[in-house]
Amino acid sequence: MTFRASILGAAAGGGLPQWNCGCENCNLARSGAIPEQTQSSVAVSANGDDWALLNASPDIRQQMARTSVLHPTDLRVSPLKSVVLTNGDIDHVAGLLTLREQQPFTLFATRDIHQAIQDNPIFGALKPEIVDRQIIALENPFELVPGLWATLFPVPGKVPLYLEQDVVQTDLVGEQTVGVYLKTAEKNAFYIPGCSGLTPDLRDRLDGADMVMFDGTLWRDDEMVAAGLSQKTGNRMGHMSMSGDDGSIAAFADIEIGKKVYVHMNNTNPVLRPSSGERAIAEDAGWTIAQDGMEFHL
Ligand code: MLT
Ligand code: MN
Ligand code: ZN
Repeated sequence: MTFRASILGAAAGGGLPQWNCGCENCNLARSGAIPEQTQSSVAVSANGDDWALLNASPDIRQQMARTSVLHPTDLRVSPLKSVVLTNGDIDHVAGLLTLREQQPFTLFATRDIHQAIQDNPIFGALKPEIVDRQIIALENPFELVPGLWATLFPVPGKVPLYLEQDVVQTDLVGEQTVGVYLKTAEKNAFYIPGCSGLTPDLRDRLDGADMVMFDGTLWRDDEMVAAGLSQKTGNRMGHMSMSGDDGSIAAFADIEIGKKVYVHMNNTNPVLRPSSGERAIAEDAGWTIAQDGMEFHL
């Protein structure tokens, strides 16, 4: 079996352009000068017929409409068999509400992430007799779709924004923020759209991977502050930046990985401008900047 991944949405929460944002990138995207990007989600398959979503973004309706492998194959027969969540953030779970049309699928997540959904009655629209909610223990492989096995593992992060309290720990390692290890008979890939730091454990895990899709939220930690958009640094949002001595470009430089792909880019990230110097630096370091519609076959 091969491994296929289709980038449904390459942007972080808000998308590009974000409805209320007048930053340079959002204006360029509105004018058509750079490509728009929808919010964070990837479709994966081993056999090309049965597909799983890695996160369900608020833009899922549009994403599925333009992705032919996800179109119904008969009256109410969908290639979409399952969804796995990497955290409870709105950009990763709001799309579940669009999947409420009496369509069976399996929803895989850790106990903590399921709890965040369970606690919100609106998700009762996904009826338990139709949508099977399976609690997945960390480090326990499960079959995500035929021929494609997944393992959830903890990565440093924080609770969803809507569950934050006065004190927020941004390097929590537990069930709130996970990465997904994906494996077919021949190939493997990692999906880690949110991660606040590359721990030695994580570095060992990624070494030798065929492909890694990794948190590309910000170029610089103070990018949103410098742009006058927010008081929050990347670190405070639970994201490791691309550039700098403690950035992901440097951290990944000596890890052996077949293909490195940045996903979950915030709309302020200069790499979203194809002609930017930052984009060239990332690409020279071996990174692909994901874009909506991009497909990978391993
Ligand atoms: C994030 O990735 O930091 C979150 O999606 C932010 C949010 O919930 O808007
Ligand atoms: Mn996000
Ligand atoms: Zn913007």
